Amino acid sequence: MNELKGVILAGGLGKRLAPLTKITNKHLLPVYDRPMIYYPLQLLIDAGVRDILIVTGGNHAGEFLRLLGNGHAFGLKHLNYTYQEGEGGIAEALGLAEHFARGRRLAVVLGDNLFQFGIREYVERFRRQKKGARILLKRVEDPERFGVAVLNGNKIEAIEEKPAKPQSSCAVTGVYLYDDQVFDIIKTLKPSRRGELEITDVNNAYIRKNELCFDILKGWWTDCGTFDSLLRANKLVAGKRWK
Ligand code: G1P
Repeated sequence: MNELKGVILAGGLGKRLAPLTKITNKHLLPVYDRPMIYYPLQLLIDAGVRDILIVTGGNHAGEFLRLLGNGHAFGLKHLNYTYQEGEGGIAEALGLAEHFARGRRLAVVLGDNLFQFGIREYVERFRRQKKGARILLKRVEDPERFGVAVLNGNKIEAIEEKPAKPQSSCAVTGVYLYDDQVFDIIKTLKPSRRGELEITDVNNAYIRKNELCFDILKGWWTDCGTFDSLLRANKLVAGKRWK
């Protein structure tokens, strides 16, 4: 009964990738030899998560069903879907998972995040954690594009969303392990300057409770939200496949 529930956040309009995203959802675009969404889905499955909800949105949501069906191609019996109306942000999208995951712990992955290796070891550590949340940090050359951890020794003091002057090079990757307090936290959030409920505000709420743990991710990580990062993702995956 204490199996983690999985949530893949694959909403938004992917405006930074227009015109590619005019006729499809960002998370269905190809990354090397398969659609982007395959990677986060496989990541969760490889970490032992079997009960997965995909939160999508925008104009092409039906295509997810056409592509993934009930997840049989991934050895799943069933896949769950829900729909985010509008562009309320990542945290709002996660709030839609409440009916699915209330009372359970959850592993959340952003649908445009790709990782070189699996996340099982971090998930195992989270399982042993009594409560709270766990995130994965990675040193990057362009932290201003991400949520950035303000570190004090071995402690995260705060996370800043896309800071103009980042206080560290440690970006917050798109894997978030939460206990079910997350749904109460989301209800307390106010929209940010870009008019969205930010996942960074969720993580800061856990920091204030002193309940946010972290690991430094091994291996490469990339998002696919811009043309450059999408190209990078293609190259990294191709390199991995040819090895
Ligand atoms: C989101 C989060 C950011 C995180 C990033 C990881 O940014 O807001 O904190 O570091 O994902 O990919 P987005 O690129 O969706 O604006």
